[in-house]
Amino acid sequence: MSASVALARDAVAAAADSLAAVGVETPRLDAEVLTAAAAGVDRLELIAQPELGLDATASRTLMGWVRRRTRREPVAYIIGRRAFRRIEVAVDSRVLIPRPETELLVEVAIELAPPGGQVHDVGTGSGAIALAVKDERPDLTVTASDRSASAVDVARRNAERLGLDVEISGGGGLPPGEYDLVVANLPYVRLDEWAALPPEIQGYEPREALIAGEDGLEEIRALVAAVPAGSLVALEHAPGQAESVRGMLADAETRPDLAGRDRVTIGRS
Ligand SMILES: C[S@@+](CC[C@H](N)C(=O)[O-])C[C@H]1O[C@@H](n2cnc3c(N)ncnc32)[C@H](O)[C@@H]1O
Repeated sequence: MSASVALARDAVAAAADSLAAVGVETPRLDAEVLTAAAAGVDRLELIAQPELGLDATASRTLMGWVRRRTRREPVAYIIGRRAFRRIEVAVDSRVLIPRPETELLVEVAIELAPPGGQVHDVGTGSGAIALAVKDERPDLTVTASDRSASAVDVARRNAERLGLDVEISGGGGLPPGEYDLVVANLPYVRLDEWAALPPEIQGYEPREALIAGEDGLEEIRALVAAVPAGSLVALEHAPGQAESVRGMLADAETRPDLAGRDRVTIGRS
């Protein structure tokens, strides 16, 4: 083996040490994901082949990525992608990184949307929710929108790359149309919570994708007010907001995420 080839096992160990030294919460996992991406394999392949060699280019890439991660840039922005349900979406600092708990909203949409129905995703960001719904329920007509023009750009590119037929438009609120189901993971962080958020969020994710006024409910409240009366909606929110969101809807029901926290409320506007 040439002197410029490092073993994956050693590269992961060195990266994990650097990340642990600055207090990254999941140093080993992050080191594995970054090393695998630099080597052009997936994480499980990397774990199965600790003797895999990283050539000089991959090693240099990894060093740069580890440096970025020590400054707390999220792994998903560094490697430029995030797995979500059965798809992988491209992400960058213009959009929120889709969270695992948001997969529940997709599950709910798949369950509630009638065969051949029309579903709209408000505040689509990277497009993750709308694209995952279309991927798992190709019978549905799925549309999405976002008030951020750069998010629309990211979501459209994801739709094109994944070959999923989802129309994505710009603009705030719900575009005119007849929908069987409206889903949304809108901003729901309270203003006073911002300062306590991890550096990965504060330093890198778009603030306007997260904050929703004093009580964190401004965006959800505005959407419910704008949706035609009687429409079926499914809304992601913080666990502590479940009761308030149920209070905005008729026939409301809240579902817990995998961690058992109230996460998605379904009801009629
Ligand atoms: C919390 S992020 C969620 C992004 C994506 N839905 C996800 O789950 O990964 C909220 C998104 O909603 C968008 N947004 C906020 N208020 C909006 C509004 N009133 N109308 C449309 N989009 C909005 C933001 O630009 C941002 O992309």
